[in-house]
Amino acid sequence: MDAVLMWFICVCTLLFAVFSFRWFYVDADGDLTLLWAERYGRSPAELRGKVAWITGASSGIGEALAYELAKYGVKLALSGTKVDRLEAVKTECLAQGPLKDDDVLLVPFDITDFSKHSECFEKVVGHFKKLDILVNNAGRSQRARFDEITTEVDYQLFGTNVFSHVSLTRVVLPHFLSNGGGHVMVNSSIAGKYGLPNSASYTGSKHAIQGYFECLRTEFEAKGVNVTVACPGPVFSNVIERCFTGTPGEVFGEKQKETDKRMSTSRCAQLMAVALANNLDEVWISLQPSLSICYLSQYMPTVFRRVIIPRFLTPQKFAKLREGRN
Ligand SMILES: *[C@@H]1O[C@H](CO)[C@@H](O)[C@H](O)[C@H]1NC(C)=O
Ligand SMILES: *[C@@H]1O[C@H](CO)[C@@H](O)[C@H](O)[C@H]1NC(C)=O
Repeated sequence: MDAVLMWFICVCTLLFAVFSFRWFYVDADGDLTLLWAERYGRSPAELRGKVAWITGASSGIGEALAYELAKYGVKLALSGTKVDRLEAVKTECLAQGPLKDDDVLLVPFDITDFSKHSECFEKVVGHFKKLDILVNNAGRSQRARFDEITTEVDYQLFGTNVFSHVSLTRVVLPHFLSNGGGHVMVNSSIAGKYGLPNSASYTGSKHAIQGYFECLRTEFEAKGVNVTVACPGPVFSNVIERCFTGTPGEVFGEKQKETDKRMSTSRCAQLMAVALANNLDEVWISLQPSLSICYLSQYMPTVFRRVIIPRFLTPQKFAKLREGRN
């Protein structure tokens, strides 16, 4: 009898281990807190009626997030530089159902033109009378060796990826404070968690985002300002085509392949909506093996730098991983 019971317990433990390994590891496309929140936390449907302003909404993750939030009835201000693309995104947002024409406002502007930020914000608040969520999502990537990058590219990349978000957030913050709170989401990257070879200025910019927005949270959370830093891994978007290199004015121009192992923008947007609804402070949104690399770098930094990188993550291997090619 005892032997039967023991076998039963062993088999159950094994099954539990196998299933949780699948769920926690093989199929995981986000960090554990995020996946937990998706299953057992608040649904993004609770965001209905809020007003969100998304920058970089004309393509990629920003576009997908607009559709995701529109589905739940979140009113939207959409920004980007290409007006015809924004109009197409608006049409698709309205097709999701809950929103009326008046609920989606287009605010096209160049995010690196800081002098326009106040004016654009006035437009948003003038229309909706309030703003609840700011999603700082615009950004560009980079492929270039450390020593080939010119300072001009460093400045441009920080302008787009960091200072534009910081400036816009400063413009919006007083409104959040007087309005009893608000939520800032910013698009960092798993490159905000460790050194991604062949993109020093990009990685630097993402680490800078972590720093700036961590400070925002520590200073203002008690005053009702929630901050979510999203760190996506490889996602399908045209970000590679418009990617910086080391030379001013040059773009990388390589297209992603369909066979690349990347997450879809729609799945990324789903998880970002969960992060917003549950006020998660930092979320990692990525398929394996990039997700595990994030865990290793965060929780075993010395082993990661001294053992894993030299043995398993040569710059060539890293380059393949980030394009989603094994
Ligand atoms: C957000 O960050 C991810 C990871 O770096 C990137 O793939 C994505 O294109 C970014 N989104 C935008 C709009 O830049
Ligand atoms: C901030 O997050 C908390 C939960 O942590 C939530 O109760 C509150 O409503 C959020 N505030 C805003 C403005 O989203």
